[in-house]
Amino acid sequence: MSDNNIFSKAPNIMHTEPAIECNFEEFKKVVESRRSVRNYTQESIPDEVVQECLRLGLLAPNSSNLQPWEFYWVRSEDKLKKLKAFCLNQPAARTAPTLIACVARPDLWKRGQRINQEYFANRHDTPKSVHAYYNKLVPFVYGNGPLHILAPFKTLAVVMLGLFKVIPRGPFGRSGNLLWATKTTALACENLMLAFRAAGYDSCPMEGFDEVRVKDLLDLPSEAAVTMIISAGKRSPQGVYSERIRGAQDMFIKKV
Ligand SMILES: Cc1cc2nc3c(=O)[nH]c(=O)nc-3n(C[C@H](O)[C@H](O)[C@H](O)COP(=O)(O)O)c2cc1C
Repeated sequence: MSDNNIFSKAPNIMHTEPAIECNFEEFKKVVESRRSVRNYTQESIPDEVVQECLRLGLLAPNSSNLQPWEFYWVRSEDKLKKLKAFCLNQPAARTAPTLIACVARPDLWKRGQRINQEYFANRHDTPKSVHAYYNKLVPFVYGNGPLHILAPFKTLAVVMLGLFKVIPRGPFGRSGNLLWATKTTALACENLMLAFRAAGYDSCPMEGFDEVRVKDLLDLPSEAAVTMIISAGKRSPQGVYSERIRGAQDMFIKKV
């Protein structure tokens, strides 16, 4: 296989960014103390804390840096009440002062493409491969034509080509792009929940909601998908229902 391709060839980069020292013990405290909280006190989270946690959410790794996510911080009292009802009035939603709908936007890959194209357009040190990536590869991979008509042809081409060489196998088509955007959105969700914990607040991810009604409430198009709704606030003494239950590590961690 040729080594001279867009994936294997390292671009000539001028940027440097040292890895700063972090406190692993503090990080472990954040991860270990994050629990799904189903009952909150009435204390609200200051707006600037929510804003900062959302900002940290947006620093999550994301596919091709296309950022196919959106976070709907529901502020209107009326909408919040409706959203709680659409979360089946489950305690994790009903008692929460803050609800954020985390939405995957596979349909908005061009928005992410534009962010990157605009950033790199005015920098003369941008390697050619970066322009090729955003101008050619991204539209090929994420664009499927009207009604995703090109998806089966792309899939077939990849299957055929894959018989002879190592190639990426997607994402292609409506379901491929949905999975693609959902993976990335879920990573931001975890960042967001860890940020709330580090700031002294708690959260609960929820997929127990009526997605049709939620999308209607938020005026979302059919291709958008609500990955999860995250509630947040201060945990009440009965906020965590049980101690943490996990299977033995060797069930999940495979050393191969
Ligand atoms: C995608 C997803 C959806 C979830 N949906 C709900 C939900 O609708 N209601 C709820 O109370 N908990 C929900 N949870 C929380 C899980 O039940 C919880 O994470 C799990 O039991 C492990 O507990 P822990 O988060 O305290 O470690 C969800 C978690 C995830 C990741």
